[in-house]
Amino acid sequence: MHLTRDEERILKGDKGEAEALAMRIIVNLGDLEGADRLIPIKTAHISGVSYQTGGEGLIRYLERMVKAGARVTVPSSLNPAGMDLREWRSMGVPEEFAETQLEIIDLFSKMGINMTCACNPYELFPAVTSVEKGDHIAWGESNAVIFANSMIGARTNREGGPATLACAIIGKTSNWGMHLDEGRRPTVEVRVGGELDHLGYNLLGAFIGKNMPSDIAIFRGLSPAAGREKMKHMGAALAAKGGHPIYHAEGITPESMLYPPEDTADLQRIDITQKDLLDMKDDLYPPDADDADVFVLGCPQFGAFEFDRLAGLVRGRKMVDGKRILVFAGRDIMPHLPGKWIDEIRESGVEIYHDTCMVVTPLKGMNLGKVGTDSAKAAHYIPRMQGIGSSLLPLEVIVERCMD
Ligand code: F3S
Repeated sequence: MHLTRDEERILKGDKGEAEALAMRIIVNLGDLEGADRLIPIKTAHISGVSYQTGGEGLIRYLERMVKAGARVTVPSSLNPAGMDLREWRSMGVPEEFAETQLEIIDLFSKMGINMTCACNPYELFPAVTSVEKGDHIAWGESNAVIFANSMIGARTNREGGPATLACAIIGKTSNWGMHLDEGRRPTVEVRVGGELDHLGYNLLGAFIGKNMPSDIAIFRGLSPAAGREKMKHMGAALAAKGGHPIYHAEGITPESMLYPPEDTADLQRIDITQKDLLDMKDDLYPPDADDADVFVLGCPQFGAFEFDRLAGLVRGRKMVDGKRILVFAGRDIMPHLPGKWIDEIRESGVEIYHDTCMVVTPLKGMNLGKVGTDSAKAAHYIPRMQGIGSSLLPLEVIVERCMD
């Protein structure tokens, strides 16, 4: 990879140990991927924040960086931590876990990173939501990466946790993959017949993710009225099942017009309907917790659309004894929402937690044995990362099971 004189000096340590270590990480990863140079980034979104997933290795890495004087040089945000940083006691998070998680957060804060722990930076932070089509960024959360590339038209690879911090410190990333036009071209055309409901969008992402893990899909036939919320959930499922960093959707995503039907006629084509997807549901998500009493919502974390939808469903209703619904949302979004929605949701008995999510918080330590969720991404990861059963259900069904 070609480095400028200044970049060479940073690599040699002329600007300090932290910058040298960060530069080494970026250059090594870029060399592995065949990058030709480094490019400036507008923002970074740092993943790997929870002690549940990062363990002691994360603490040692952060301690080393802080000791070496690391500071971020571009607006940088954090992915969810392993607990609500204020209400962790009411969540039932064990004391020892909480202490270690707070130590991790403290280390991140010493480097100048925005402390709102949320996985939907595209809905939360002014500095990050100002990301625009064509901007180069370094984001490390898979749902945020696929949203940024697809729905915004910004450019980011799916960076790992240590790499996102390194990019935030240097203010650059290596130029390959999603940063290049050729890396973003569709390789399969998916024609969707008829309307999909919310669950249908989740299943569409999961189906393509599972069966076409190396392809970039261009969807045709999705309703432009689907809105950001359904596309957000479809993308999250696609990235969870298949690791995809991007998709295109005709009439919805900003780069889809680069690929009109006549230019994609040679691609493999898949035709699919809501009925096909519902028929595949039990194959994609074998029901493993149909007797669950606890339901977790907010993967990706709730935005305004999800709060509005939930408030409409629970309005005037009450949680039945023995049932629980836990919602996860970034803390910073709350002051921007109509207070009426939040009052209605809380009065119904739904619990709202911040800074964390159901996948990276220690559910077992909170004595939650089996859970239901409306999120295809959560239903995919909860059994793998928490070792407990989960079932994928429509939100309307979850509310019916829990409320009078
Ligand atoms: Fe976000 Fe946690 Fe899901 S980080 S996308 S809510 S797994």
